[in-house]
Amino acid sequence: AQSLRTLALRHGLQIGTAVDMAALNNANDPRYRQITATEFSSVTAENVMKWESLEPTRGNYDWAPADQLIDFAKRNKQTVRGHVLVWQNQLPGWLTSGVEDGSISKQELRELLRKHITTVVSRYKGKISQWDVVNEAVSDPWDNPPTLHYKGFWAQHLGPGYLADAFRWARAADPKVLLFYNDYNIEAFGSGNPANDKTQFVYDMVKGLLAQRVPIDGVGSQGHLGTQYGNYDTLQVTDALKRFTALGLATAFTEVDVRSEMTEAVQAGDSAEINPRLQASAANFSVLMKACLAVRSCISFTVWGFSDKHSWVPTWFDNPPEGLATIYDENYQPKRAYHEIKSDL
Ligand code: XIL
Repeated sequence: AQSLRTLALRHGLQIGTAVDMAALNNANDPRYRQITATEFSSVTAENVMKWESLEPTRGNYDWAPADQLIDFAKRNKQTVRGHVLVWQNQLPGWLTSGVEDGSISKQELRELLRKHITTVVSRYKGKISQWDVVNEAVSDPWDNPPTLHYKGFWAQHLGPGYLADAFRWARAADPKVLLFYNDYNIEAFGSGNPANDKTQFVYDMVKGLLAQRVPIDGVGSQGHLGTQYGNYDTLQVTDALKRFTALGLATAFTEVDVRSEMTEAVQAGDSAEINPRLQASAANFSVLMKACLAVRSCISFTVWGFSDKHSWVPTWFDNPPEGLATIYDENYQPKRAYHEIKSDL
């Protein structure tokens, strides 16, 4: 049977997965490495390119795991999506506590960010095709205050101007790599869609940055969906991609998974052949894939882990427990979602 990557190639589409380095290196789990290498044409570090992993103690970068992924990609003729330069999560403790206790001033923080971006982007110049420069900068309608705003550590300490700075510093370090703004809840746009407001906010934000000649090349739509929120609509998802495209941007789905609440309706071991909730999971994967294929600017489609054996969902969403969010089951058997995106390709 043909792989996802062979089929995606015919559309000029990169098909990627987030990679868990511990699983990749586990000699007792050879299927993980094999599927990563054969089914995907692109890889993203699930964690090892985040600031806390790269610079666990101040001034001492640990490049080994990230370098290893870059080597793996090269051997398997895969592109690499760099994730992530600026984000409020998974920051090193020395940085957040230094800001908290006042030992790192605002000017110093800005300089540390400039140095971090410059160091990381320079190191992987020519080896990475897309960088998530800024991740999740915008609040959600359920946040407090509910009015959409710039959220998190960086906006709080540097003000929203950090976005323009970050893209400019990244561009200075590598003139060719594609620079992305990445976020969730911006998958759809269209009447009656609850994600409308955030999609609109990000659209206006990016448009504003472009008007200031900020070097932003693309918008990444994460695609962390859940079957409890119902089915996305292909036209509304296509519409969101088209709006960003009209700004002259590339688009991508960067972290797709579709989780389900593990209640009476969904039990471990259930399959989409018999369970309508899980059919909805497969259907949502397919909606995003169809939209991506319908819009030329959509250059890559990345899943956030490919197997239920290695997925962030059960550890992250535990009340109520959620799971079964990926395209392979825990035994590396392809699920309906795998077959559906394959037939879309
Ligand atoms: C997640 C990883 O999958 C987990 O292993 C880690 O503990 C927390 O972060 N949005 C992002 C990703 O941009 O970096 C997050 O990854 C998932 C949500």
